[in-house]
Amino acid sequence: MAGRTDGDRRLRDLVAKAARTRLTERLRLEPVGPEHVRDLFLLHQDDRVAAWHGRRLTAESARRWAVRGQRGWDQEGVDKWMAYDRQTGELIGRSGLNRTELDGQSRLEISWTVRSDRWGNGYATEMGRAGVEFAFEELGDTAVIAVTDPHNLRSRAVMERIGMSFVREITRDGTRSTLYAIAKPGPGQR
Ligand SMILES: CC(C)(COP(=O)(O)OP(=O)(O)OC[C@H]1O[C@@H](n2cnc3c(N)ncnc32)[C@H](O)[C@@H]1OP(=O)(O)O)[C@@H](O)C(=O)NCCC(=O)NCCS
Repeated sequence: MAGRTDGDRRLRDLVAKAARTRLTERLRLEPVGPEHVRDLFLLHQDDRVAAWHGRRLTAESARRWAVRGQRGWDQEGVDKWMAYDRQTGELIGRSGLNRTELDGQSRLEISWTVRSDRWGNGYATEMGRAGVEFAFEELGDTAVIAVTDPHNLRSRAVMERIGMSFVREITRDGTRSTLYAIAKPGPGQR
């Protein structure tokens, strides 16, 4: 885009955002960027969400997180989505896919977080299905993994609901975790 006008850049950003946005039955999944800093911050002030993430995001860490997410979209072609109710526009949560190293291999990992007053409605399941579909259909990956605390039964239930299978326990960053995976169905297996 060197030498291009601001108008060209805005158009490029708009087109990229539209291509990365997903619509599910109830949710609009927007690729995370600097415009989501406040919603990210708010989501991570939620006591029950913070309890599982082990910390609250500060305004500064939310800003860094959003910038990193946008860079992920630009460089890797995928990162996190912010999820909004399609009817009311309310923030529901976030989910997304990131490349991660496991057993010396690059793997695509999915994750999700829903504001706690919306737990129990299937939103994480809806986001999870959309993420796996994006991985298989848009990125051309053939497998997706998910990792969580073994005690995070709600997250494990989402993994199972979207068709992931328990693989084994792993230790990551010194923490015992549970690994799940799903493989892209072969032709005729859908
Ligand atoms: C993990 C987390 C996203 C799961 O949220 P959740 O609301 O339990 O999961 P879902 O959105 O898929 O909802 C499932 C529940 O909705 C119900 N449900 C209602 N409508 C549904 C639908 N259309 N589809 C699927 N489930 C539906 C299910 O029966 C289930 O009910 P239950 O809570 O009684 O078991 C949430 O607990 C969270 O944000 N935790 C903190 C962050 C975290 O731990 N993230 C994971 C890190 S790896």
